[in-house]
Amino acid sequence: MALVRLDKFLANMGVGTRSEVKNLIKSKKITIDDVIVTSPDMKIDLEHNIVKANGIVVSYIEYEYYMLNKPAGVISATEDKHCSTIIDLIKDSNKKDLFPVGRLDKDTEGLLLITNDGALAHDLLSPKKHIPKTYYAKVAGHMDAAVINAFKEGVDIGEDKPTLPAELKILNSNEVSEIELTIYEGKFHQVKRMFEAVGSKVLYLKRISMGNLQLDNSLELGEYRALTLDELKTLKEG
Ligand code: URA
Repeated sequence: MALVRLDKFLANMGVGTRSEVKNLIKSKKITIDDVIVTSPDMKIDLEHNIVKANGIVVSYIEYEYYMLNKPAGVISATEDKHCSTIIDLIKDSNKKDLFPVGRLDKDTEGLLLITNDGALAHDLLSPKKHIPKTYYAKVAGHMDAAVINAFKEGVDIGEDKPTLPAELKILNSNEVSEIELTIYEGKFHQVKRMFEAVGSKVLYLKRISMGNLQLDNSLELGEYRALTLDELKTLKEG
């Protein structure tokens, strides 16, 4: 097995963010074969070295989980001949099998989970599970209780059935209003089509949560980090 950088390995295994990992190393909390390490760019051999964080063995895990703050202009695909994809943004991984869990439109920003764990992706995307997804949006025109009620009841977006009940929170109502919308399904362009159904238009769209997973506000557009073990646990439990 190839040698990997210690800080990258620890962050990928969910011990902490890259900067948290650097701090752990600085404060002598990381050992390789029971010898304290002080350099984050130390290389380790995953088959032979035993890495411990705070005295606890950090095992290599097969699956990788990243939270990406997707910028507009990249597509939610693994490869594309013409456009850059979200996978092009993931520089840390050697894995060839990463994929996005669901899709965001090219012009949508925000939380995208990227993994190679097919079973978790299947669970999160299953139409039966009704995993909540919350979006922040700027939309054209005033928003009021009528729109809240329409979304609560379900609107016709041209599918066989109306949309499932969704929760609209109006952050401010103006010529351009700011809202948060939580939906429990994932139809193509769903949020945009829901606002069209009530005579409005989405001008800016960003996903801020999926299931129990919240977008880390410290991630700039295009930045990503491995999920922490806590995040992964609550995501799986949710
Ligand atoms: N709904 C949309 O319309 N677009 C997205 O990218 C996600 C949800």
